[in-house]
Amino acid sequence: MLHIISLPCSLSSDLQDIGPVYDFLSNLYSGKNIHRCKTAMLDVETVKPGDRILFAGVGHGRDAIRAAELGAEVTVVDLSETMLRKFGESQESEAPHLTIRRIHSDTMKVEEFGQYDMVVANFFLNVFDETMMVRVLEHLIQLGKADASVVVGDFCYPTGNVFSRMSKKLYWYMAVFTFWLFANNAFHKIYNYPEHMRRLGLKVTEKKHFKLMNMDYRENEHHFYAYQDGKAVGFIYFDPIYRNNEIISYVPNISRANADFKQGIFYTLMAHAMNAFKAEGVPHLDLGLIPLSLDATTEHQESRLLKRILHGLYNRGDFIYNFNWLELTKSRFRGNNLKTYCCHNRSIPALEFLAMFKLTQVL
Ligand SMILES: C[S@@+](CC[C@H](N)C(=O)[O-])C[C@H]1O[C@@H](n2cnc3c(N)ncnc32)[C@H](O)[C@@H]1O
Repeated sequence: MLHIISLPCSLSSDLQDIGPVYDFLSNLYSGKNIHRCKTAMLDVETVKPGDRILFAGVGHGRDAIRAAELGAEVTVVDLSETMLRKFGESQESEAPHLTIRRIHSDTMKVEEFGQYDMVVANFFLNVFDETMMVRVLEHLIQLGKADASVVVGDFCYPTGNVFSRMSKKLYWYMAVFTFWLFANNAFHKIYNYPEHMRRLGLKVTEKKHFKLMNMDYRENEHHFYAYQDGKAVGFIYFDPIYRNNEIISYVPNISRANADFKQGIFYTLMAHAMNAFKAEGVPHLDLGLIPLSLDATTEHQESRLLKRILHGLYNRGDFIYNFNWLELTKSRFRGNNLKTYCCHNRSIPALEFLAMFKLTQVL
């Protein structure tokens, strides 16, 4: 059996309100990663021409179209007329030459037992409360042949350290709250699908994970690599900074050096990059923020408590992150120091920190 898990979503019955914007919302929420998650198990290895595949709660169904393009005999089922109409429109514009069978019904009323080579439930099972979800999953398994694959793309059961579990739960509750509000879905915790699948007698053969809020915008990045005897010893990636659509500066985004190259390569690479940018006519080079390097004086609008905590972390937190070393390294370029301000409502913006760590993929 195949099994994939990841990302967000959920809605049920008729989706008049949210159905038309559902794909837009999911792209906003995850970049293209929801689509990648939904089609992760649909390729030439897993789908053979003529395979019978059922998509339960198909929604807009670009995953179903992909399966049909691979030569599968595809059936889609959805309770919502709006969603099936949207699916029809997608198919009409993307693959009018393909035949895909549509069933407007409750999946539990589809009784084509033992007929399918693969049954796909992408972001479908989370629509139900846990007892019903198990019944629906059981039903889907019965619709498959004895050796069928059951594919589930959905939110991943939270694992990892406490922050990572918390941020996964935060995403889930944001999504489930939205769909509970607009689509009357069940409000529940994240399900442990692999566990339920095992309990129902399936063998979990594969899991793939996709990150939320993935931003893979890379236009105009600059990469500088240093080699010694044909071996890479370090690199720095720079992101562009724009003003009025013109690149006015670059900022180092990520830099790494081979630990065996004792001399250190950072300054050499930076000097080379500066010359290259100067030759391109870029007027500035931004060395980026120095985390927690805060001005010694506290201005009247600043949160004293937060500033004390951050100063303390900066002075004693080198075991977490090398704050002081970074400041020293950057000071050697003898640039201008500019203050950067962050505004927040509460004196301790804990949620904002959590969101920032997640966005920057620290968590
Ligand atoms: C969260 S959406 C997921 C849609 C799609 N699979 C996707 O990944 O974008 C859930 C879908 O399940 C459908 N649905 C909810 N309950 C259903 C049921 N009992 N039988 C069939 N479809 C159902 C909804 O209409 C909706 O299209």
